[in-house]
Amino acid sequence: MYKIAAIGGDGIGPEIVSEGKKVLEAAGEKYNFDIQWTDFDIGADRYLATKKLVTEDDLKELGRFKAIYFGAIGDERVQPGVLEKGILLALRFHFDQFVNLRPIRLLDGVETPLTGKGPEDIDFVVIRENTEDFYVGIGSRFRKHQKIELDVVRDIYNVKFGLDVTSDAEEIAYQIGVVTREGSRRVQTYAFDLAMQRKKKLTSVDKANVLSDVYGLWRDVFTETAKKYPGVTTEFTFVDAITMWFVKNPEWFDVVVTPNMFGDIITDLGAMIQGGLGLAPGGNINPKGTSMFEPIHGSAPKYKGMGVANPIATIWAGSLLLDHLGEHKAAAAVVKAIETSIRDGVVTKDLGGKAVSTSTAGSYIAECVKKGT
Ligand code: IPM
Ligand code: MG
Repeated sequence: MYKIAAIGGDGIGPEIVSEGKKVLEAAGEKYNFDIQWTDFDIGADRYLATKKLVTEDDLKELGRFKAIYFGAIGDERVQPGVLEKGILLALRFHFDQFVNLRPIRLLDGVETPLTGKGPEDIDFVVIRENTEDFYVGIGSRFRKHQKIELDVVRDIYNVKFGLDVTSDAEEIAYQIGVVTREGSRRVQTYAFDLAMQRKKKLTSVDKANVLSDVYGLWRDVFTETAKKYPGVTTEFTFVDAITMWFVKNPEWFDVVVTPNMFGDIITDLGAMIQGGLGLAPGGNINPKGTSMFEPIHGSAPKYKGMGVANPIATIWAGSLLLDHLGEHKAAAAVVKAIETSIRDGVVTKDLGGKAVSTSTAGSYIAECVKKGT
């Protein structure tokens, strides 16, 4: 028996999480485990009604679970950033989910925009650091005549524009990225361990040629960590170059480890080469704590309640969740069932095929899991 927390969230979030639950329950029937769900009402509606994002009580309750199944967050009635930072990032940071695991795999039968590439070429995993870098939230924005406390920012302004910031500056803003030795070590170690289970090749992403302090440290730690894994072939790439290689030669990659912000960017590109955001899952993992599994895509408010959203990314995230719980056979069966549904064309409109509803697509995958197809 597994106890799992569920947060449907906003927009299409609740619909796709219900499909995910259906499929995970089917996997439980087939592989002999039960799931007890606890739903949490967290998201835009509650925020608008009560001004509460994630409360101390929510955190305490959620902390009792090993896994959270998460839909999506984001609503047009709320200023961008409020829900994303106040809910999604708050949970990732609070539970110290330092690994963001994002498989980039082209499933059988899915079309990629990359000409001449197939499932054998696009099959790697991005491990995105999930708690540091430019996501730490240290920064400030100054309006005209506001006093700027940070010497370095004041100096830049003086030198660059010859202006006295306290009197002449229009507006100025800064944001600081933080990388730590331990933060780099733990996520890179996770990536090396994963590489050992796969093709023993690990690519590190950075921008150490320009942002040489933060990513210089990242690189140094990578070089040291690599010494403990002599069996793993390693390489460095700059983030701009890797966007090119993802498109040109995706078959080069097996495991890719990246700082937080670059990971955010390159995994949207990854999602596209694997067939679109409707297919891309992610896991926010704290190996010793509470982890959270979600589709990479957002809440798509304009499709809310229309039954057109593709549930596959969320169902696949459910497979990552099962893997995390140690139910590896069930996890693999879920991905296999997703592939069957695609092959049979029982998919939502974005994938062409029979253009079925969200719930028909989910039910079909659940049936395939039960039948083992
Ligand atoms: C993602 C998203 C989030 C991020 C946003 C919604 C805060 O883009 O999970 O990739 O930047 O991490
Ligand atoms: Mg993103």
